[in-house]
Amino acid sequence: MLMSPWRSDFPALAILEAQGQTYLDSAATAQKPQALIDALTGYYTCGTANVHRAQHQPAERATRAFEDARIKVAQWLNAACPTEIVFTRGATEALNLLAYGLEPLIEADDEIVVSALEHHANLLPWQQLAKRRNAKLLVLPLNDRGVIDMEAAASLIGPRTRLLAVSQLSNVLGVWQPLAELLPLAKAQGALTVVDGAQGVVHGRHDMQSLACDFYVLSSHKLYGPEGVGALYGRGESLLKLRHWQFGGEMVRVADFHHAEFHAAPLGFEAGTPPIGAVIGLGATLDYLSRLDAAAVSGHEEALHMRLLAGLAVRKGVRLLGEPRLALASFTVDGVHHGDLAHLLTEQGIAIRSGTHCAQPLMSALKVDGAIRVSLGLYNDGTDLERFFSALDQALELLQ
Ligand SMILES: Cc1ncc(COP(=O)(O)O)c(C=O)c1O
Repeated sequence: MLMSPWRSDFPALAILEAQGQTYLDSAATAQKPQALIDALTGYYTCGTANVHRAQHQPAERATRAFEDARIKVAQWLNAACPTEIVFTRGATEALNLLAYGLEPLIEADDEIVVSALEHHANLLPWQQLAKRRNAKLLVLPLNDRGVIDMEAAASLIGPRTRLLAVSQLSNVLGVWQPLAELLPLAKAQGALTVVDGAQGVVHGRHDMQSLACDFYVLSSHKLYGPEGVGALYGRGESLLKLRHWQFGGEMVRVADFHHAEFHAAPLGFEAGTPPIGAVIGLGATLDYLSRLDAAAVSGHEEALHMRLLAGLAVRKGVRLLGEPRLALASFTVDGVHHGDLAHLLTEQGIAIRSGTHCAQPLMSALKVDGAIRVSLGLYNDGTDLERFFSALDQALELLQ
């Protein structure tokens, strides 16, 4: 039957089900575990306070919980030290922080390298940085399976490469990228490396010390945590290369009217009041995820994904984008517009995404104007897929 033993940990699933909704859009944002809801309720009902500022007891408690969450994120990623974790408002803000923070290191005619599969969040900050500095943006092509072409990468990454920014797991193609081979190519040229882990962090644990990137970014809401918070991991010596980018309270050490000195990371990059409740909620979510049997979670996700692919493979005219290996599948159907199909699926209570998935250049490269994406969370089960396929068959009967 392919049941998820963790489904009941996510109260929204039962409510959505009662409303006739089948949630298959976890790559956009995930449903939340009761453990997170309890942590948020606890924080807001027991007295909030701002962090790193006041000496009173509620502030001390909030600061301790906030800094505990930093330790939990550091442990989740096996960072060398909690000070390597900077809280941001999401993966997008973390990538913008990097593009502004690293700006002084980029000179005219330097090269910034991204790949053809990047989400706009890991493309536009670099594209705009390249424009500001008269630098060049180079794009690594993909092979037919949706994997960065390593031969092309070896020839495009060269002595002018200052920075390589690539996704670990594409939000459209659902395939791990060959970071273990790719990152050393950039390192060998003395370039900095940025990994967009917004999707990758949701599937399995990733060890920053062995991944050996300079920076890694994630969003809490895709990892079953609250919205409005993300994290930037930066290797100790790499964080020292960042120029401060947002200015205000608590990031400054001393200030007068004409001059200021700033804290180092992480606090120097967390200007203003941070999303305290959300950070504490992320910590509680990581506690919850840490208690799960990781092998059972990935086995369940793999079995669901195989069932998804098998079901798509037997439907007439369905074409997958790339060769998805986990988490999701994006597809088109011959002769059917993805918008029409999405409309009929939505009418039947199937919550999937259709469109360009914030990756317009990838869609152009694949010569499609959009696709349907089905994405899975650890709480999905076989009945979700049965409902999806039955709705798909009904929709295709009308449209084909
Ligand atoms: C691969 C990838 N990178 C970056 C992002 C941006 O994340 P956020 O919108 O949470 O900042 C997303 C969100 O869909 C994503 O899938």
